[in-house]
Amino acid sequence: MAEPLIAILDFGSQYTQLIARRVREQRVFCRIYPWSVDVATLSKEPLAGVILSGGPASVYEKDAPRLDPRVLELGVPVLGVCYGMQSIAKEFGGTVERGTQGGEYGRATLEVVRPNPLLRDVPTTSTVWMSHGDSVTALPAGYTLLARSPTCPFAATMRDDGRVYGIQFHPEVTHSAYGTQILSNFLFDVCHAQGSWTMGNFVDQAIDKVRATVGPQGRVVLGLSGGVDSSVAAVLLHRAIGDRLDAIFVDNGMLRKNERHEVEHLFRERFPVRLHVVDASEQFLADLKGVVDPEHKRKKIGHRFIDVFKDEAKRCAGAQFLAQGTLYPDVIESTSATGGPSVTIKTHHNVGGLPKDLGFMLIEPFRELFKDEVRQLGALLELPETVLKRHPFPGPGLSVRCLGEVTRERLDVLREADAIFLEELRAAGWYEKTSQAFAVLLPVRSVGVQGDGRTYGHVCALRAVTTEDFMTADFAPLPFDLLGRVASRITNEVRAINRVTYDVTSKPPGTIEWE
Ligand code: XMP
Repeated sequence: MAEPLIAILDFGSQYTQLIARRVREQRVFCRIYPWSVDVATLSKEPLAGVILSGGPASVYEKDAPRLDPRVLELGVPVLGVCYGMQSIAKEFGGTVERGTQGGEYGRATLEVVRPNPLLRDVPTTSTVWMSHGDSVTALPAGYTLLARSPTCPFAATMRDDGRVYGIQFHPEVTHSAYGTQILSNFLFDVCHAQGSWTMGNFVDQAIDKVRATVGPQGRVVLGLSGGVDSSVAAVLLHRAIGDRLDAIFVDNGMLRKNERHEVEHLFRERFPVRLHVVDASEQFLADLKGVVDPEHKRKKIGHRFIDVFKDEAKRCAGAQFLAQGTLYPDVIESTSATGGPSVTIKTHHNVGGLPKDLGFMLIEPFRELFKDEVRQLGALLELPETVLKRHPFPGPGLSVRCLGEVTRERLDVLREADAIFLEELRAAGWYEKTSQAFAVLLPVRSVGVQGDGRTYGHVCALRAVTTEDFMTADFAPLPFDLLGRVASRITNEVRAINRVTYDVTSKPPGTIEWE
């Protein structure tokens, strides 16, 4: 019998993923659905409860995401958060209005006015995090006030049968002092969730699901990049269907030092999947001849990757499915109620960036997971730490770090410098303290002196950043002696480079890659 789950309906809040994470932290499985999910779909799931997320819209706006009132008839408890609460009010006869002072953002004091299961063990006054323009100004019939704040008369409410709750604040953010307690009350006291879910359960469920989808004969291809997501996906799929998985690794000539060898070793010796290594470096480099514009480079690489992948996939006779290590943050960008990012800063390409018309059915076992959860999963599947703790590496590889024309010679110079930097970082214990670190080869030369002679060599920049989400980043405060050691080794061991610099720009205004 499948584990009961909490369905989170996403109304476009930036915090939806955080709700999911908080629920899973309490060992309750949850799944995020778009707000428009068919109620019939939900009714087929073994639900323990439903959480309605917040969202940026106003419930009375034309085209605002609308709560299907039948969600409240599914027979399980419902918790509406912010927009979720306002949607309940709107659908059942309450009113929602724009705040006279333009809304409420930040910390507020919650005052509990009536004891109730949702706010059990929450003191009479506590701090909560508010972030809303509208608020409920009249409750639907049959609802009771549970708590208020100075500017929000209905900060927490309950339907009189104790099965439906609404809260205007965000329990999922850590600024809400009793947020975890409130979510736990909802999960366990109201929904009677079991709290026995673990990543181990997820492995079993995911394997069962893959087997059910693929069937006893079906075959799957997977684009393996050697990064965390595709590596964990490969191992999981291999456990599920063994030799009916074909993993395709494309060597585009822009990999880091030893990268191809490491992937081959891991997936031939340790996890013997049916691995196709395609050396297409000649074709990629031929495409890039004379190209210096970063976007142009990305497009060439993206197109070539698709062609190479397609050709190789054709060799995997009978494959009907394509597995991708898509994570939740990737999913939400394409389905969020607010739409994706408004401007293209860089055209991202990765192995998940294959077009939809390749003719395969998609399998995405990690659609509901966050990066660190995929790492946990990888650890359970016994992938080595070196893979699980790897920094991310962009799909177009070293090409985005080789500024100016990308040639085999320049890539070789960059590869060596990069390998020295990473080796020294690891030796000094800094690799794990940074989120991403690499060398960049600049398209300029500078004068230097070596021995008694003048040199006119390449310039290399080192970049190391710390970041939570890669949307913003700080430069890593690497010790000077470490930087000095790296510079000295690079200029001595990579003859073409005579100058090394360290990038101390944060993002924004810089980006992590240089391009
Ligand atoms: P930027 O340079 O935009 O990078 O600050 C943010 C993060 O994205 C990675 N990146 C990519 N990843 N395909 C990828 O899979 C790409 O085309 C790509 N471009 C940048 C970058 O390494 C950093 O982690």
